[in-house]
Amino acid sequence: MKKNNIILIGFMGVGKGSIAREIVHNSSYIALDTDDLVESMENKRVKKIFQEDGEEYFRNLEKDIALWLEKSVQNTLISTGGGFYKVKNLKKIGTIVLLDSPFEKILKRIQEHPNAKAKLRKRPLLSDLKAAKQLYKQRRPEYLALADIVVDVTDKSVQECTKEILKKVKKYV
Ligand code: S3P
Repeated sequence: MKKNNIILIGFMGVGKGSIAREIVHNSSYIALDTDDLVESMENKRVKKIFQEDGEEYFRNLEKDIALWLEKSVQNTLISTGGGFYKVKNLKKIGTIVLLDSPFEKILKRIQEHPNAKAKLRKRPLLSDLKAAKQLYKQRRPEYLALADIVVDVTDKSVQECTKEILKKVKKYV
């Protein structure tokens, strides 16, 4: 049987963190974030892990976390790093909600954020925007194929997205 966690997936900067916080504020879910879990496992920032240990090492940490989530976590809203969807057991962890938006809109959202510089700096895979756009193109169909629920977040407030997600997940959890 499927577990009653909700998993937010989607590209870097699409708003997974902000929407997760709003969902938790408006529901009885508790929250976990896979990047936060990686950072506390290693006592190191994601950016530093990429620099010092490499992306493959980071992806292996994500796989370990995915196994732990499947085995031990319930009733939780799980926000994920943009590449976390690649773990093999994602479907077994819970209902998958894709936060979807065109690349240009995501970029605009990051660039217009008061903390834009920090947001870009902490994401190694956004350092080259041409490569990031390619990554988006490659990933988007994979995100869509995995998602139980797709929420178009373009030009919607965090509150609107939250309402829509909580309504749609009712059928699943
Ligand atoms: C990544 C996304 C990041 C973080 C890491 C790799 C990716 O998380 O996990 O930098 O592969 O898309 P956010 O999606 O929260 O930026």
